[in-house]
Amino acid sequence: MHETSHILEAKQFITSKTDLVPEMGIILGSGLGSLADEMDNATIIPYKEIPHFAESSAIGHANELVIGTLEGKTVVAMKGRYHYYEGYSLDDITFPVRVMKSLGIENLIITNACGAVNTSFNPGDLMLITDHINLTGQNPLIGPNNDELGTRFPDLSEAYNRALGTIAKEVAKEHDITLREGVYTWWTGPAYETPAEIRMIRTLGGDAVGMSTVPEAIIAAHANVNVLGVSCLTNMACGILDEPLSHEDVIAVAAKSKEAFMTLIKNVIKKI
Ligand code: HPA
Repeated sequence: MHETSHILEAKQFITSKTDLVPEMGIILGSGLGSLADEMDNATIIPYKEIPHFAESSAIGHANELVIGTLEGKTVVAMKGRYHYYEGYSLDDITFPVRVMKSLGIENLIITNACGAVNTSFNPGDLMLITDHINLTGQNPLIGPNNDELGTRFPDLSEAYNRALGTIAKEVAKEHDITLREGVYTWWTGPAYETPAEIRMIRTLGGDAVGMSTVPEAIIAAHANVNVLGVSCLTNMACGILDEPLSHEDVIAVAAKSKEAFMTLIKNVIKKI
């Protein structure tokens, strides 16, 4: 359970560094952090300085909170995130969502790099997350409920906000960006899935698979924050192609999709 006093301590530390009040948040996934470098009037705070924040060890994650303006909006960006597979608790990895909410955000853009399970998708495509499947049996809300933060049984019927999704689809059309739509499946990792697990995920209705996003989206729903989820499909999931998966390839393909990703996200932010 997230303690209200911990959230307040982190909030007070952050607000002592900047006068900007962020109206939206963005979590930048593997290889996608450079969007934060486009922000103006940026205050950069290493996670390790912020009370109760943990630190990600994954390659491609800078571990910085960046608060500034982007496309005329005040934004708080997480340049890199923590993952469950690093050994952090689900409370740890979702704590920043609580802090961003306390700073004032109403909308949260969650991004990630993930594998394509749907065989009609291609590596490098972007995907609007329409829904998720939690295959881990884990939930960040297990334990006592902090009623100050949200209800015991949050509704997930619109965990990924439809209005924000419509904006993303409009922007993609205007800028000629391929934006797939699909269901994201949460796998704990750190091992990639087996070919049999990918066939199972496809049978169950998953279009993509990755190691993040779902716990953050659940906490956002609990905190009444609207979520837009955008994935970068960095590879065909295990067993679809006759080649092994590597984190280096994931980062390299994410880098290639960076331009389309930045155009999409910046223009969505402008329209929200
Ligand atoms: N599976 C899980 N996580 C991932 C993948 C994948 O294929 N690609 C990038 N993150």
